[in-house]
Amino acid sequence: MRFGVIGLGSAGRSHLDVLSHMPEVEVAGIADLNPEYVKTLGEKYGVPLATTQPEELITNPSIDVIAVVAADRAHYPLVMACAAARKHVLCEKPIATEVAHAREMVAAMRESGRLFCISLNNRGNPVNRRIKDVVDAGIIGHARMVRLIGLMAAPDNRVVRERLGEKAAYSRLVNICHEGKNAMFDCGVHSFDYARFLTGSDFRRIEAMGYSMRGFEYPDHGVALCEHENGILTVVDKGFDYAYEAQTRKEYVRYEVIGDRGSLAWDLDNQRLRVFAHDQTLDEPLPYASHDADREVIYRGFIESVKQGALLPWLASGEDGLKAVEAAQAAIDSMIAKGIITRDVGPGPNWFDGRSW
Ligand SMILES: NC(=O)c1ccc[n+]([C@@H]2O[C@H](COP(=O)([O-])OP(=O)(O)OC[C@H]3O[C@@H](n4cnc5c(N)ncnc54)[C@H](O)[C@@H]3O)[C@@H](O)[C@H]2O)c1
Repeated sequence: MRFGVIGLGSAGRSHLDVLSHMPEVEVAGIADLNPEYVKTLGEKYGVPLATTQPEELITNPSIDVIAVVAADRAHYPLVMACAAARKHVLCEKPIATEVAHAREMVAAMRESGRLFCISLNNRGNPVNRRIKDVVDAGIIGHARMVRLIGLMAAPDNRVVRERLGEKAAYSRLVNICHEGKNAMFDCGVHSFDYARFLTGSDFRRIEAMGYSMRGFEYPDHGVALCEHENGILTVVDKGFDYAYEAQTRKEYVRYEVIGDRGSLAWDLDNQRLRVFAHDQTLDEPLPYASHDADREVIYRGFIESVKQGALLPWLASGEDGLKAVEAAQAAIDSMIAKGIITRDVGPGPNWFDGRSW
């Protein structure tokens, strides 16, 4: 299967690495607007077509599948071009930064008759899958409440500033927190998608509150309370203000499901699944896999889907990607409507105050 990869930033490199190790895949082309990236990675992986013009890949008749791993705002024009050229597409999350664009993309890809998958990693992650298996087996009875907590440092945190320099850190901050609509949208799409995947139910309504530390339009940290159509409640707690100035990178991730016959919990610190249920008690190691490992699982599923001519049901379709951004946008709209609480970041740097690069 001949792949073209568009977008060669940090995620694009991981995609390229995963694909280049898969025997059934040939990376036939790569593209990025940055000529340095194109040159270096084209040479490293010996790719026959390495270009700064993504359309050269999209219109190339010998390429079967396009992986869209470019910056969020580029997903919409690139996927629309892929639909017009009738390519299968695996697109990074979020499907788009605007819900209206996501709707158009889903419609155009459906019209093209080609497969459209969104890389929502939780569906390929062993922790999330094991939790779903325990819930689906009814071990904790009927799920009533799901809590998905994901907290990390902002994209311009101290560790990143020291590694990449202030200018690159600032550029990440703008890409993710401004254009990518900050934690509840950029990262939240994973949780909203997982909540639908885990509960098997769409959202009926979403209410949220959040705060902003540095004057962003979109909050740095928010909590969304979601009611599913089947009555389950999901809490999504997403923040980019965790251990921001810490000398060591630190994330806080915790999942809990509370059912009517028991409850389960997993967290990143312990990497153990603990289940306290009516008929059994489990305490098992459940290590977190890497992003690369998740991506490989998703690619394997997608390649199988292309062979079969239909997306395997556990993968996130364009419609799933759309529902994730609809939910994330609803959470943001709810926070903005309630009034985003503003906080002073204190002694830390505030790049948005009087700085221009
Ligand atoms: N699934 C995940 O957990 C996960 C993790 C990280 C990033 N991502 C997603 O992957 C995508 C890329 O993120 P990243 O961290 O690599 O960002 P990045 O800023 O490191 O790289 C983005 C790259 O896209 C290129 N680009 C921008 N517009 C383009 C266009 N029109 N055509 C071709 N190239 C273009 C830029 O030159 C840059 O090299 C984003 O959509 C992001 O949300 C997903």
